Amino acid sequence: MKTYIVGNWKLNFTVGEASIYLHKLLKSLPIYRDIDVVVAPSLLALQPLSLQIDRHKMKLAAQNGFYQDYGAYTGEVSFSQLRGIVDYAIVGHSERRYILGEDDKMIAKKVDAAIRNKVTPILCIGETESERAFGETSDVIKDQLAGGLREVSDDEIDKVIIAYEPVWAISSTKAAKIATPDEIADAVKLIRKCLADMYGVKLADKVPVLFGGSVNSSNAGGYLTVPGVNGLLIGGASLILNEFVDIIDTAKRVRS
Ligand code: PGA
Repeated sequence: MKTYIVGNWKLNFTVGEASIYLHKLLKSLPIYRDIDVVVAPSLLALQPLSLQIDRHKMKLAAQNGFYQDYGAYTGEVSFSQLRGIVDYAIVGHSERRYILGEDDKMIAKKVDAAIRNKVTPILCIGETESERAFGETSDVIKDQLAGGLREVSDDEIDKVIIAYEPVWAISSTKAAKIATPDEIADAVKLIRKCLADMYGVKLADKVPVLFGGSVNSSNAGGYLTVPGVNGLLIGGASLILNEFVDIIDTAKRVRS
């Protein structure tokens, strides 16, 4: 299976800044056949960057998309509009769940809309700090997986990527809130078991599972060697060119 290195730029960079970053990134990247390098800029930058990008070297992701293809939905952008511009879309990120109020029902419709429009959804799941403290991690993982994949058939599950992002480990500066490879290993094992229960082992094995949460160039290697982890979803560190390139290089080293 390929390795996925995905940079989530969140609400950062103007269109101009994004274009300059992309230019520098493309210059420093060779073509890696076994690594999919992906960046998720703001919606506004996607269209111009899609003209600038070298798709042999990397791909674009949207940070979000709407579940209807068209209609009276002021302010939304649909996956049918994103089709052809992006290859991937982050769906159900915890910031959208907890700041923007998205629930599993809406997230399931977005996953479905992405697949319908030939965009690969990167479905984010993960427990909050208090859910972990109350011993609810397994239930949250199971519920968010079953909820988010509700509309996904056996024929479609190989078009989905799962990202395990424990909410307590996102944008963390404190060592206690950085997930350890062991903690991730347990969660990823559970994710793979849930996928196997839902779709059978053969199909479940085709689903890439990424880890995200304060990944940087120092810890990326450790995370990438956790069994069952096929890549990384990176926020803060993906905004720093050298860091992001170092993480991609690490992925190349670890995987070869
Ligand atoms: P972080 O963000 O790497 O800054 O923790 C990851 C994410 O939210 O996807």
